[in-house]
Amino acid sequence: MADKILVTGGTGYIGSHTVVELQASGYEVIVVDNLSNSSIDVLDNIEQISGIRPAFEQFDLADGAKTEDFFTRNKNIAAIIHFAASKAVGESVEKPLLYYRNNLVSLMNLLDCQIKYDVPNIVFSSSCTVYGQPEVLPVTEKTPRKDAESPYGNTKRVNEDILNDTIHANPQLKGIALRYFNPIGAHPSALIGELPLGVPQNLVPFITQTAAGLRDELKVFGDDYDTVDGSAVRDYINVVDLAKAHVVAINRLLQGKNKANYEIFNLGTGTGLSVLEVVTGFEKATGVKLNYKIVGRRAGDIEKIWADTTYANEELGWKAEKGTEETLLSAWNWEKRVRGIK
Ligand code: UD1
Repeated sequence: MADKILVTGGTGYIGSHTVVELQASGYEVIVVDNLSNSSIDVLDNIEQISGIRPAFEQFDLADGAKTEDFFTRNKNIAAIIHFAASKAVGESVEKPLLYYRNNLVSLMNLLDCQIKYDVPNIVFSSSCTVYGQPEVLPVTEKTPRKDAESPYGNTKRVNEDILNDTIHANPQLKGIALRYFNPIGAHPSALIGELPLGVPQNLVPFITQTAAGLRDELKVFGDDYDTVDGSAVRDYINVVDLAKAHVVAINRLLQGKNKANYEIFNLGTGTGLSVLEVVTGFEKATGVKLNYKIVGRRAGDIEKIWADTTYANEELGWKAEKGTEETLLSAWNWEKRVRGIK
């Protein structure tokens, strides 16, 4: 019988791509999502790609009674992948309690139920935001974490601690925190991808919406950083590569290959790209000219970060494979499908 995996936030951007990869690897998936930032239609598209429709329940994991009720009805869950979280940095500054409640309470509710209903394994969505601006690049998993720049970033840091402490106190539990760098792109089918509500805050959705004519111009935030061309540098990783890393993490836990009960991995490509390099890469990959202008720095942004991927490569046997242009083209193909552009 296939192992059953609970994917929270499974209709979201990274969650939906991970559901596809889990199903392709033979896992049975149950998605829980409150649909606060995603659509139920994503399930149709997952089914179109996979030929399998994952089980689905709509509720908020910050609701302890509903979460417990779910686990009383769903026995034999082998592992949880916990994506469900609020993730808008700016909004988190305006509404910190909303972010702490959504992001911390949902993890605590899940961990309570893991202990009570014998669900031994969890993979947690963390972020390279926990490193702040590192002194030394690239960043390894041993690079010290810094105070977060936003309540959102702090929820990632505190959730890592909640996970670590809970696993320490409950040796029957095992967990892996995956620190994502900047996930971009979409499934090659263009059936699933990133669909931000309102004005996109992240670079690549803003680029594709500008190319599609929804935005007049991209604002490049800063050209006076100490980088190759003055614009800020990030490690952009293809979302399908990232999704595959989750399957590897689940295999590792279920096959008992983990070296400690709580482990951390950086998930990036190992290469930093500047904002202007992403713009040029997009133009080259798609043949679409992008309207952009340089403006001042964005508050809270760091100058540069990219991952040392050695540990994930060697220990997980996983490597990001897709090139930047292929990834940017996939983001454009997704935007075109969503907007009905030929
Ligand atoms: C942001 C969050 C990070 C979160 C991640 C999720 C901040 C400070 N960090 O990362 O915590 O985990 O999203 O994906 O918000 N840029 C422009 N013009 C734009 C948009 C972005 O020039 O219209 C630049 C930014 O200044 C930055 C780069 O593009 O240098 C990437 O920005 P973005 O996609 O928002 O990601 P991060 O800020 O790295």
